Amino acid sequence: STVSIISFPFNGGQSHPGVELGPKELIGLGLVDQLKEMGYGIAETSGVVDTESLKPTVVAKGLNTNNTEWVSAACKELSSRVEAECRKGFLPVTLGGDHSLAIGTLNGSLKVFGDKLRVLWVDAHADINPLNETASGNLHGCPLALVCGIDKSPFFDWIKEHLGFDKLVYIGLRDVDLPEQKVIKKHNIKAFTMYHIDKYGISKVFDMAMDYINPNRDLPVHMSFDVDSMDPSVIPATGTPVRGGMTFREGHFLCEAMAETGCLVAMDLAEVNPLLGDKEAQFKTIDIGCSLVRSALGETLL
Ligand code: ARG
Ligand code: MN
Ligand code: MN
Ligand code: MN
Repeated sequence: STVSIISFPFNGGQSHPGVELGPKELIGLGLVDQLKEMGYGIAETSGVVDTESLKPTVVAKGLNTNNTEWVSAACKELSSRVEAECRKGFLPVTLGGDHSLAIGTLNGSLKVFGDKLRVLWVDAHADINPLNETASGNLHGCPLALVCGIDKSPFFDWIKEHLGFDKLVYIGLRDVDLPEQKVIKKHNIKAFTMYHIDKYGISKVFDMAMDYINPNRDLPVHMSFDVDSMDPSVIPATGTPVRGGMTFREGHFLCEAMAETGCLVAMDLAEVNPLLGDKEAQFKTIDIGCSLVRSALGETLL
């Protein structure tokens, strides 16, 4: 089968420069070659989204969120790339860039798979802050509010279809803002936090998460993987690290188990920031970023 590598060199959803270099570094360390070696065809036609050229010249004043127009324009373009690749029957892997990218990638896969689409969100954060309530104003903390239709911002009026709350599941949460806690409770969103991983182990947590969104293992799943779901000792070079995350094996096990279902139709790898930390931190993060993608695409240990 064919994987489409989509580079999304974008940092407008948060405030740390460097996250836009993620795709270049991941590919530079050999991700594309590694996937070829695993037997995948690579469609690089989807290529790089030119996020710089999408920067607006005029911006609205007084908004609660930063770079709103830029995030919208870049994600709209990304959405059409992901949609096109899915329609060809390819599996788009979007390399970020910050996690606001999921506004685009999830819109793209939703357009193709509609009601059938299920989303596995792997993250320390819930990224479901309503746009008027985000304390940071950073849109990488808000993508699911837009995707799920809690927010119908006029700046994102191109988002027509929304993901049902029962079609989403979280794994890895440990830093959830108050407005997000309210949203999760109000809409009864299924979430497996680090507490659940400690209590049941990652294997059982993955099974429970799938049993919830995809009980017969026959529905298309989009996995949006924020590398800050991993413990900062494993993945240090990321903008919003939170202690107490998944170990190296827990993260890889999750990806391997996702591959084993055969249901993965799209993947995001977000928040690799090759400018943060020392050389070793940067190398580790990029190297393990690559191995997480390989695992999700079916790399086995034997
Ligand atoms: N909840 C915080 C915020 O909204 C942090 C979000 C971090 N998101 C991420 N994709 N790393 O600002
Ligand atoms: Mn996060
Ligand atoms: Mn917080
Ligand atoms: Mn995130």
